[in-house]
Amino acid sequence: MKNTFGNALKVTLFGESHGDAIGVVIDGLTPGIEIDYEFIDRQLNRRRSKTQVCTQRVEKDDYKIISGVFEGHTTGTPLCIVIPNRDVNSSDYQLFGSVARPGHADYTAQCKYHGYQDFRGGGHFSGRITVALVAAGALIQSALEKKGIFVGTHIKKCAGVEDRDFSDYVSDIKNLHVSQFAILDEEASQKMIKRACEIKNSDDSVGGIMETAIVGVPAGVGEPWFDSIESMLSHAMFSIPAVKGIEFGAGFKCAEMLGSQMNDEFYVDGDSILTRSNNNGGINGGISNGMPIVFNCVVKPTSSIARKQKTVNFIDKLDTEIEIAGRHDATIIPRACVVAETLSAIVIADILIGRYGTDYLL
Ligand SMILES: Cc1cc2nc3c(=O)[nH]c(=O)nc-3n(C[C@H](O)[C@H](O)[C@H](O)COP(=O)(O)O)c2cc1C
Repeated sequence: MKNTFGNALKVTLFGESHGDAIGVVIDGLTPGIEIDYEFIDRQLNRRRSKTQVCTQRVEKDDYKIISGVFEGHTTGTPLCIVIPNRDVNSSDYQLFGSVARPGHADYTAQCKYHGYQDFRGGGHFSGRITVALVAAGALIQSALEKKGIFVGTHIKKCAGVEDRDFSDYVSDIKNLHVSQFAILDEEASQKMIKRACEIKNSDDSVGGIMETAIVGVPAGVGEPWFDSIESMLSHAMFSIPAVKGIEFGAGFKCAEMLGSQMNDEFYVDGDSILTRSNNNGGINGGISNGMPIVFNCVVKPTSSIARKQKTVNFIDKLDTEIEIAGRHDATIIPRACVVAETLSAIVIADILIGRYGTDYLL
């Protein structure tokens, strides 16, 4: 589908960056989920720019749930969240209907929508649309936590600085949820921000790798072929603007490993069956094996940079140059982490509801 994702749980996105509002419709939700407004606010707050490496569009995401909730609980009918756009300055973006910003979707949108697209601020392609995904995902994430399933994403690497690995998954994830910068090691965070700011001061930008862990998923969910857990998560992650790659478990490193190093040996621990390593990222044959589901996504450097760049006017078919005015992120990775985390929650809930039924999240 074009703007709809999911099987048992369907999520539809709508809106443009500088239109009246953006939003999301979630269909297939369990009735009776208590809405954790505080958690939704916290996740929206984390997605908003707060560090020196992020932009100045500090719009308060005043969302409104206009259907699907009654007396603080989901009804089970389509739940629609609307977020009005307020901090909008379209004058910065008037050119984008004719001059393509390198790295952005201005030209491809023109080719697909024949000039009828709302190009202001990136329109439907804008990172702003992720506010709706985060609101929907946070609602689902808090319901998953009540089932003992925790989802967290941190910046594994950015601007040449690496974060530490997850150690105690649940406690690390809980700490990420109260952190404004999605990183586990405070010292690495300072270095990363400093390095990213230096790059921004040279009118450039930087990308990085974000690592997601989903813990508590029972063994035996997922599908063997087209809807394997890897396929579903990859489909969702590649929908996040600026995500350019994904790897599960040991990922591309397994090209240098031997079978004896790659194989995750099983052992019995009380009633549980576990593996000694987790190179397969918690998935065998597309199906969860009960270990943490772990994957990395690479985020490209922010396309909007303050430098003059060569481009074209695609209406007049002329070479030209562009200098992008307005607000620039040194890196979008701190915000993308919250999107990856909440979207992963949506995917896992979809898979679990598909397997155990609509009432699973109760
Ligand atoms: C949360 C979030 C915020 C974003 N903000 C910006 C931004 O401020 N500037 C920018 O150049 N790109 C930003 N992007 C990325 C662009 O939207 C994206 O690169 C562009 O739409 C082209 O899509 P593609 O990179 O997937 O090809 C953001 C992405 C996300 C996930």
